[in-house]
Amino acid sequence: MKKQLVSKLLFILPVSIMLTMVGWQTPSETNDPDEEYISVLLSKMTLQEKLGQLNQRGTSSRENGISEELKQMVRDGRVGSFLNVQSKESILELQRIAVEESPNGIPLIFARDVIHGFKTIFPIPLGQAASWNPDLVEQGARVSAIEASSTGIRWTFAPMIDIARDPRWGRIAESSGEDPYLTSMMGAAAVRGFQSDDLSNPNSMAACAKHFIGYGAAEGGRDYNTAVISEPLLHNVYLKPFKAAADAGVASFMSSFNEVNGVPASGNEYVLRQILRDDWKFDGIVVSDWNSVTEMIAHGYSANEKEAAYSAARAGLDMEMTSHAYENNMKQLINEGRLSMEQLDEKVKNILRIKLRMGLFESPYFDPNQDVLYAEEHLEAAKEMAIQSMVLLKNESVLPLSSETKNIAVIGPLANAPREQLGTWIFDGDEKHSVTPLTSLKGKYGEAVKYASGLAYSRDQSTSGFKSAIKVAKSSEVILFFGGEEAILSGEAHSRADISLPGRQEDLIHELARTGKPIVLVVMAGRPITLGNIIEEVDAVLFAWHPGTMAGPAVTDLLSGEASPSGRLPVSWPKSVGQIPIYYNHKSTGRPANEESFVHIDDIPLHAWQSSLGNTSHYLDEGFEPMYPFGYGLTYSQFEYSDLTISDDRIKPADTLVVSATVRNTGDVKAAEIVQLYLQDRFGSLTRPVKELKRFERLILNPGQQARVDFRITQKDLIFYNASGDWVAESGVFKVWIAENAKSGLEGEFELLNE
Ligand code: BGC
Repeated sequence: MKKQLVSKLLFILPVSIMLTMVGWQTPSETNDPDEEYISVLLSKMTLQEKLGQLNQRGTSSRENGISEELKQMVRDGRVGSFLNVQSKESILELQRIAVEESPNGIPLIFARDVIHGFKTIFPIPLGQAASWNPDLVEQGARVSAIEASSTGIRWTFAPMIDIARDPRWGRIAESSGEDPYLTSMMGAAAVRGFQSDDLSNPNSMAACAKHFIGYGAAEGGRDYNTAVISEPLLHNVYLKPFKAAADAGVASFMSSFNEVNGVPASGNEYVLRQILRDDWKFDGIVVSDWNSVTEMIAHGYSANEKEAAYSAARAGLDMEMTSHAYENNMKQLINEGRLSMEQLDEKVKNILRIKLRMGLFESPYFDPNQDVLYAEEHLEAAKEMAIQSMVLLKNESVLPLSSETKNIAVIGPLANAPREQLGTWIFDGDEKHSVTPLTSLKGKYGEAVKYASGLAYSRDQSTSGFKSAIKVAKSSEVILFFGGEEAILSGEAHSRADISLPGRQEDLIHELARTGKPIVLVVMAGRPITLGNIIEEVDAVLFAWHPGTMAGPAVTDLLSGEASPSGRLPVSWPKSVGQIPIYYNHKSTGRPANEESFVHIDDIPLHAWQSSLGNTSHYLDEGFEPMYPFGYGLTYSQFEYSDLTISDDRIKPADTLVVSATVRNTGDVKAAEIVQLYLQDRFGSLTRPVKELKRFERLILNPGQQARVDFRITQKDLIFYNASGDWVAESGVFKVWIAENAKSGLEGEFELLNE
């Protein structure tokens, strides 16, 4: 009876009181009351309950209602977490069973993919990265957490911080693009936003750094595919954002589907244990991806489910998402002595620790009566993020639209597509709340707007709508063409080999161009789209990604000049698929490409001698530059960079270097500039990239206004992971640029002296 009472009290009383009651030290006598609490609890748990904590049960993302069998499992303490339980009632009921009826009353954590918004949908993460504004990313994640937690979801599988150098990969939409520094900044901001400053806030969500590791390096951009990543590349590029997330206090990591250098991530002891636990001291949850433990069998790594469980457990994976390898085999593996009780306990502790930090033991329930979904300030935040995410790629004096414009043709499959503008991973976003460009433009320009979609959806192969679209175009002053991809064409398992505008969109643009009217192309898509076939036909291109609920108001503000575009590319933009992978922070070669040595395929003289041209690293047809460089984006103003200064020519490791420049708005309108600092370590014991982003700052300047930007560089910015596995800053010359993008800028240099 007494035992039972303590057991119940254990979960009702604050940790400190509980410890005193069960005869343990008071917090003042121990170093960490949480760890004491976990130890007490662990000592009371049966093997079945321990295994239960490692078990994340999935219900379909469209689930309605929970089976009696699952409820009984919770009652028996055989489930630690659920993903995709949808209704508030189901969450409350399952939690009540866990807390009141399971042997030790351990609360469940309810998880869901809240990727770029819960109800209020923000731009896809790639679009958010294009804002280069971590504060807005943090704000967006906060909004998502407030909305999702109001329905009982306290764990999100975000941020995805895979480096993505291949736009064919559908999941580039969920990434922050190709750069480790930008991705680190965005990832850490998202973690702060989801988790708030205290994970135990009822409106915080545990974040999840995913997918660990190398998922974005899938060969050819084919999802789930093999990743071969050298050791230095792993550390210098792929791991960096994950380290930043760990430093930001992320509560969980997700092991990825792919293999890295021959070992599937979910059984990869080197990454899950050595790097994550031993080196980074991560003490939160490592959860598998959906069935990724048992998929090690298909990978050809584990011979059967039991071996998959063994490999994952040994590697350091705590919780298994949806597959049942642990549940079915762990007991036997322990009995056989292949896994120890200590190894199991470590996993259970990692999970209980996060549940404790989330305050779930003290407050397992949520208030189901909160009214926060689609709150006015959430929609405002989503609109602002959408505005700042859009990148103006081209503008030949057609934007902003003149306020005198009397006749606007709105054409294209994405002009009025409330669901498609939301993008991938929007289980909960309701298209009824989407404000489309057509609706907003009509609101602003009224009768001046004439609409004919021309194509019913992005892949539409029918030209039957062309005629009416051309008719509308002919009677207009300007054509706004809303093209791109439907939401389903990007995201998980939605890679494309051809990343141009799908369906007959290019054909329709060609037809519209024949009217002689200026064309503004607004693209909504989940990835960079190759524009080579139509770029000459259009006068302006605003790349809007999938902008979310508030696409319409954001586009309208930008097209009308109410706001000036300020997004910058988080990826290098390929001219064609053949150039992929193309990324700015590549290595040099012994024969770097240059303008002088490049002869375009059409200009090669007939019967040219084999070695008479080229001999540098380029394509005869596409050259060596992307269509638009990383960091690129136009505004309605212009900026001039001058007076680069570097505080010292030579620095020692402990010094701080200040690199400064003056940036002036030389145009006619107020606009934002993203000032970027790049470095190059000229010579290294391992060759270094030709440029690496190290800092950026967002400036807002009025016409004629200028500002001095100071960037502080320390040894931390100069180090890299070398061939011996050490982080070193090697002495020698560094180049530095303060720039508008990765292909421009004021250049200087300094020397690092190590002695
Ligand atoms: C994805 C993860 C996601 C999980 C749960 C998997 O298919 O790769 O990113 O978090 O499903 O929905």
